[in-house]
Amino acid sequence: MVSPASPRDGCAWITGASSGIGRSLALRLAREGWHVVISARRQGELETVAAETTHGRITPWALDVTDGAAVADAVRAIEAKHGPIALAVLNAGTHQPMTAQNFRAEVVDRLLRLNVTGGATCLEALLPRMRERGKGQVAVVSSVAGYRGLPTAAAYSASKAAAIAMAESLRPELESEGVLLQVVNPGFVKTPLTDKNEFPMPMLMDVEDAAAAFAKGLQRTRFEIIFPRRFCYFVKLYRCLPYALALRIARGMVSKASQSG
Ligand SMILES: NC(=O)c1ccc[n+]([C@@H]2O[C@H](COP(=O)([O-])OP(=O)(O)OC[C@H]3O[C@@H](n4cnc5c(N)ncnc54)[C@H](OP(=O)(O)O)[C@@H]3O)[C@@H](O)[C@H]2O)c1
Repeated sequence: MVSPASPRDGCAWITGASSGIGRSLALRLAREGWHVVISARRQGELETVAAETTHGRITPWALDVTDGAAVADAVRAIEAKHGPIALAVLNAGTHQPMTAQNFRAEVVDRLLRLNVTGGATCLEALLPRMRERGKGQVAVVSSVAGYRGLPTAAAYSASKAAAIAMAESLRPELESEGVLLQVVNPGFVKTPLTDKNEFPMPMLMDVEDAAAAFAKGLQRTRFEIIFPRRFCYFVKLYRCLPYALALRIARGMVSKASQSG
């Protein structure tokens, strides 16, 4: 049986923690008693987050998750310096909207390298260690955009669908070895990532509320963590629709967006 990790088991490591969801989650987990190691490319932003800690401890660890060798070195060095990574939140990711008119394979490749291979590289470094210890917890951050291909999100939806499938594939085996793997599928959360969106985002969630829901999900063993719940259930329903109906709704979204743009 798997159980959620606790601060007594070691440290927490969050990638993509220099802003947005990762930043708020790091500050929350530190308040809950975790020593949190935070990674992203911008060292200065990581130090700002660490300086904001009022309770607990946050250690910045600059890292580009698309650099495989650097990820392997970082996991080794973090464990050597701060003890076992008991909880890993693989959250680094980005979005680049892309219309059919501007479709570029390069954008697909870049998002897959960060949103899928970046997470996979972290998993490759973490899993042998956790499996050997017979415990550990990893949360892979994906998105409800991975449930179905959404308009203007050909690259993003493809990458998030891949991340969900990867986590689904790994969960049963890891569970039998004592390692808890979860997937996190947020709806819209107000962060620098969604600040770029020019369309109205239904049920846009405050980032602090999102971090609270995220942290609550990490205290359970349920496979999927979702927030805001109502919006995510709505997208789950959309995922179940037959193509004819789903594509009609999607066409509606496209024409609404082109009218507002
Ligand atoms: N906001 C939403 O509505 C929403 C919804 C569903 C899913 N998500 C997912 O949630 C995650 C966090 O998104 P967010 O909204 O909090 O966006 P954000 O504020 O833009 O945060 C993205 C984080 O990823 C880091 N990052 C980007 N490239 C990196 C790289 N190569 N190596 C290491 N870190 C890298 C960024 O830091 P640096 O630039 O310093 O590297 C930043 O800390 C993403 O995976 C996103 O897809 C967000």
